Amino acid sequence: MFRTHTCGELRLENEGQKVTLAGWVQRVRNLGGMTFIDLRDRYGITQLSLNIEQDQALCEQARKLGREFVVQISGQVKERESKNKQINTGEIEIKVESLKVLNASKVPPFTIEDETDGGEEIRMKYRYLDLRRNPLREKLALRHRLAIETRKYLDAASFMEIETPYLIKSTPEGARDFVVPSRMNEGQFYALPQSPQTFKQLLMISGYDRYFQIVRCFRDEDLRADRQPEFTQIDCEMAFVEQEDVLHTFEGLVRHLFKVIKGVELPAFERLTYADAMRLYGSDKPDLRFGMPFVELNDVVKGKDFKIFDDAELVVAINAEGAASYTRKQLDQLTDFVKRPQVGAKGLVYCRVNDDGSLKSSVDKFFDQEALQRWAEVTGAKPGDLILVLAGDRDATRKQMNELRLEMGNQLGLRAPFEYKPLWVVDFPLLEWDEETQRFYAMHHPFTSPKIEDLAKLETAPGEVNANAYDMVINGVELGGGSIRIHDQKLQAKMFELLGFTDEEAKAQFGFLMGAFEYGAPPHGGIAFGFDRLAAMFGGSDSIRDYIAFPKNNAGRDLMIDSPSPISGEQLDELHLRVQLDS
Ligand code: AMO
Repeated sequence: MFRTHTCGELRLENEGQKVTLAGWVQRVRNLGGMTFIDLRDRYGITQLSLNIEQDQALCEQARKLGREFVVQISGQVKERESKNKQINTGEIEIKVESLKVLNASKVPPFTIEDETDGGEEIRMKYRYLDLRRNPLREKLALRHRLAIETRKYLDAASFMEIETPYLIKSTPEGARDFVVPSRMNEGQFYALPQSPQTFKQLLMISGYDRYFQIVRCFRDEDLRADRQPEFTQIDCEMAFVEQEDVLHTFEGLVRHLFKVIKGVELPAFERLTYADAMRLYGSDKPDLRFGMPFVELNDVVKGKDFKIFDDAELVVAINAEGAASYTRKQLDQLTDFVKRPQVGAKGLVYCRVNDDGSLKSSVDKFFDQEALQRWAEVTGAKPGDLILVLAGDRDATRKQMNELRLEMGNQLGLRAPFEYKPLWVVDFPLLEWDEETQRFYAMHHPFTSPKIEDLAKLETAPGEVNANAYDMVINGVELGGGSIRIHDQKLQAKMFELLGFTDEEAKAQFGFLMGAFEYGAPPHGGIAFGFDRLAAMFGGSDSIRDYIAFPKNNAGRDLMIDSPSPISGEQLDELHLRVQLDS
């Protein structure tokens, strides 16, 4: 037997037992006549002890062990003299009787400790070593638990897990496709799925009325902390449902996960329409752990000869409670913050409400006390508060104010890491107009159903049509999104037409789905959660990278296997690519 126990298993009650352990050498300490080794595996660390007086040869062998050597030892479990309360095995040690080196190790390029000395890049290159560290192991264990609990919950609710293909053709989810050349079909390409969207709809037509899949998706888009080119969704679809059924089912899933994995009873899910979310928070994924809603000041501030406000489409304020004590320097820093290119505001107007109720603003030249009093009234600012105002084009100003609100939330400590405020954002617009290309794009995807009451507007004012689409947002993170789908062939054709597809293009790309709609498609809808994001949220992190065993860096590269990489001329020929690349 390679081992009788793991390195995290032995306790005082095992005292006296003969055991065999195998693992990695975390470190070796020589203290005079005694040598101590910390032996590590996935389950923990067990201390090994050797006494030079009792077995000189064994002790000398142990002293030669390097970090990360793989060894197998046998010995007897003893109570430790000096106990370590920090670890589960801290009351015992193994008095080693035999030791076998199973494999040597080069000195690792960084220390395999909770706090490592390795920089990001070197750890990515040696990801298999980084994964030996506890923090990463714990993150992957959390991800595993989430997957297991998700499967248990959905299975109990009669969902069937069904795999869908990875070599498919383009699905329009808004990003670019990764494509795979076909050797057997010259000049033709598969696309990797941006999501299994069309397949899960086809499964509804096939009668599998509750489907799910924990599935890899591929999107060639710009990467950020919460985006990877390949990521995982909990993808779900249901037939014979309305929006409320879907929201209720998946609120249940997320509630269950929080309860069993974090012991957290989530508060009620709030609901906001997209329009309200944009008006009150300037974002379709507002962080509701704190208030500070936008207050529009157009009616209050115009006509006082302050050109910036007079010319603005929107003048909008937030009330930062208790921030009147901000110093000049802090206010200058806030101004610099909103003027950064990433935020893009031209400037920031502020108004302090002093303790005596008097008001001091950065635009006192244009607004007297009486006028500023109105600002305080409409924003609800009280003595001690700070009103912050931005002005400009409506949509841009809302975005800028969203950034400022989140920044103030951070500065005032209002975004508690382990408090959760779940929210459904509903009633998204169906279409989004793009000025540059002068055409409509689907806000969610082209299979999303318009609201029945807005159907007439599809002809007259498509931009005003709302969709049966919804996003689940927790603490400002879009965890998932979905919609009720179109199941009527004619409506789907109309949708493609609005999106600028010709009949032929629609048929070429989605003929299979349109065809399937003619064979008894039930009403259906669903949702997909970002599984990596869910794991990161449970772990309390903004970045999904460490919740993925082998992630890519921000340039989409895997530094460990050094990919992407060129392929041989032979492969290019086989794939009929040489001609295309040369031409
Ligand atoms: P959507 O495009 O909104 O919907 O994606 C669903 C969820 O997937 C996560 N997500 C990502 N996570 C990591 N990296 C990425 N690059 C990335 N892109 C998206 C987000 C997002 O909310 N087929 C539809 C779902 C449906 O309509 O049922 C879809 O894919 O958390």
